[in-house]
Amino acid sequence: MNHFCDIDDIDDLSGWLARGKALALDQGALGTPGKGKTLCLLFFNNSLRTRLSTQMAARRLGLEVIVMNFGAEGWQLEYEDGTVMDGGKAEHIREAARVVGTYADLIGVRAFAGLQDREADYAEQVLKGFARHSGVPVLNMESATAHPLQALADALTVEAYRKTDRPKVVLSWAPHPRALPQAVPNSFVRMMRRMPVDLVVTHPEGYELAPEITGGAPVVYNQEEALKNADFVYVKNWSSYTRYGQILTQDPGWMMTRNKLGTAQFMHCLPVRRNVVVEDAVLDSAQSLVIHQAANRTRSAQLALAHLLESNA
Ligand code: CP
Repeated sequence: MNHFCDIDDIDDLSGWLARGKALALDQGALGTPGKGKTLCLLFFNNSLRTRLSTQMAARRLGLEVIVMNFGAEGWQLEYEDGTVMDGGKAEHIREAARVVGTYADLIGVRAFAGLQDREADYAEQVLKGFARHSGVPVLNMESATAHPLQALADALTVEAYRKTDRPKVVLSWAPHPRALPQAVPNSFVRMMRRMPVDLVVTHPEGYELAPEITGGAPVVYNQEEALKNADFVYVKNWSSYTRYGQILTQDPGWMMTRNKLGTAQFMHCLPVRRNVVVEDAVLDSAQSLVIHQAANRTRSAQLALAHLLESNA
């Protein structure tokens, strides 16, 4: 059983990017391998882009789509085996996943980090629970620690807008009033490490991502220094990995401004808080690629779903 849970599930990245380029020219380039099949999307958390782009992608591949807001409308699920279920959780993942697997040929799951327990979040109980027990291929629509559909859309965007063979890409932390997961920066860093780019990560001390995520990528604590000669600047907030889920600073000096951006192209996964994460002048400039990134979400979902359909045929 093949799943699309993380960047590692992309075997041949250059082949995927080439197919993405073909999709940009012809949205029907991958055919309709989903004809006669059903995709069930389960949302444990809110969404705009993922929800709509994945449905559009599925329709283009010929799939029927059913959607459930599991977080608001589903039974609370138990994930531990051998538990005496005499508390608030009404259903075990073993039954829930198998049941959904009888209704659908593929399942998409969105389930964010709780940010209370690092081990539990990084164990990916929800996503892996559906992958283990449903009996059908599972698509990660942003899990506790990874957002591969976003990272694939970001890779397509860098490919389409790069002006040099080896652009400098800077991932810059930004302030935010709420604690956010590491899923987007984790997947973006892992994706860029597989691309022909020079990646630099910049954030205040204490916001280091997991060492296995950054690998050998340079981490620079001085944002101004990191941004020098950048071709792409990807801005994102995340909460601390080491002091798990905590906000260590909200220093507005880390907000991205037109002045700091220079001539670089600006990227963000959206949604974004204006004048907290990035100032209006950046988002409203021609240097902003955020709408292109969002448009590429349909293509990234089409690529991932086509891969699941083809490899599990
Ligand atoms: N970037 C992204 O995943 O957007 P949504 O949370 O709106 O789906």
